[in-house]
Order: sequence, then C-alpha cells, then structure tokens
Amino acid sequence: MKIAPSILSADFANLARDIQLVEKAGADYIHVDVMDGHFVPNITIGPAVVAAIRPVTKLPLDCHLMIEKPENYIPDFAKAGADIINVHVEATPHIHRALQMIKNANVKAGVTINPGTPVAAIQHVLQMADLVLVMTVNPGFGGQAFIPEAVEKVKELKALKEEFGYHYEIEVDGGIVPDTAKICQAAGADVFVAGSYIYNAPDPEDRIATLKEALTQ
Ligand code: DX5
Ligand code: ZN
Repeated sequence: MKIAPSILSADFANLARDIQLVEKAGADYIHVDVMDGHFVPNITIGPAVVAAIRPVTKLPLDCHLMIEKPENYIPDFAKAGADIINVHVEATPHIHRALQMIKNANVKAGVTINPGTPVAAIQHVLQMADLVLVMTVNPGFGGQAFIPEAVEKVKELKALKEEFGYHYEIEVDGGIVPDTAKICQAAGADVFVAGSYIYNAPDPEDRIATLKEALTQ
C-alpha cells in the first residue's frame, strides 16, 4: 500500500515545506497534478515547478498530466525529474506512442482513465503500463466527492493483472479518505492519492497516519 499526497491542496507558496512534511510522515509518492485549462477547466503547474521541487525530496514524483497533446510535454517532464508520468487516454489518439515515449525516457509510464471511460479503452496498452490510474472523481479540482462506480474498474484491472501477469500498480485518485480508500483497497488498489484530506487539515501527519492505519487493518 502506498500513499501519494497530492500537492494540489498544499500551500503553493510553501511547496518545499509541505512536501517535506508528508515525506517525514511516511508518504510514498508525491502526486503532482498538472492541468492546462483545456483538458480540464483549471490551470495549475508545469515542468518548471517539477524541476524546482525535484531537489527537495527523495520521494518519486508522480506526475499526473491533465493536458491536451501530452506527447509534446513528455520530454520536458522527464527532464524536470518526473519518476512517473501519467497520461490520460482521453487526451490523445496516440496513447501507445505516448507510453512508449515515457518508457524511452526511462520514466515509469502510467495510463489514466476518467470516470466515464471503460477499462476496455486501455486494454491494448496494459502490458506496457507501470501504473494504471483510475480517476475516482472527474479531474480538475481537489475536494470533490468520490464516485463509487469507479470501483468496479479497479476490480476489473486487478483481475486482468492476475490473469495476464501484468506488472502495473493500480492507483486511485479523487475523494480518497479512510473509508473510500478501504473500499478501493478491497477492490485491488495499491496506491492512494489524497489531496484535501491530507493538506486541508491542521495536522497532515495525523491524516497520513490515519489513512495508513485504515489500510493496514
Ligand atoms: C483531481 C486531481 C487529484 C486531486 C485529488 O483532478 O487529479 O489528484 O488533487 O484531490 P482530493 O483528494 O481532494 O479529491
Ligand atoms: Zn491527480
């Protein structure tokens, strides 16, 4: 089980502090939400910020690209120090090429599906995925309510992984709190992204501990 705090809900004026805080508290990945105002109706951060935070943590930077034409930016994110690059299947007609580009840059390749997208849409790239990110909210903003219908897709991905011997981790993102994390874990999720639950709290360390505790019961 891995916890990936999303810095979307961190204090952007104190990113280094907020990243080091969750690293000390036992986080496993730092989840970086990249939005372009086109693929999703919000604008956040780009490769320059990834490069700036790279030296402040030893944790893998899990970059979630919610952008159109992701292929055009894969080299920039790889160069900036991303350890994982997640690309939405809905964002490109060339998901296979995008994943190949990520792997050729020696970065772990993640493929992401929105709540309205079936697992079948990524069936033919599962063998090359290091991670599959199942959105449990419609991407764009932190603090939204968990969409329970997405859990079925986690089960499906877990079953396919076992049947065909795929190696991907299954990550869930959106509306993750201890209860929803447990539901996703029971379905087969390995990595749990949490933004508002961790950062919109007086004590993010406690929130990580509570989440971990819920997932080890
Ligand atoms: C949503 C982002 C998420 C977001 C999760 O578009 O991909 O990573 O930060 O935030 P919470 O945990 O608040 O739902
Ligand atoms: Zn995300």
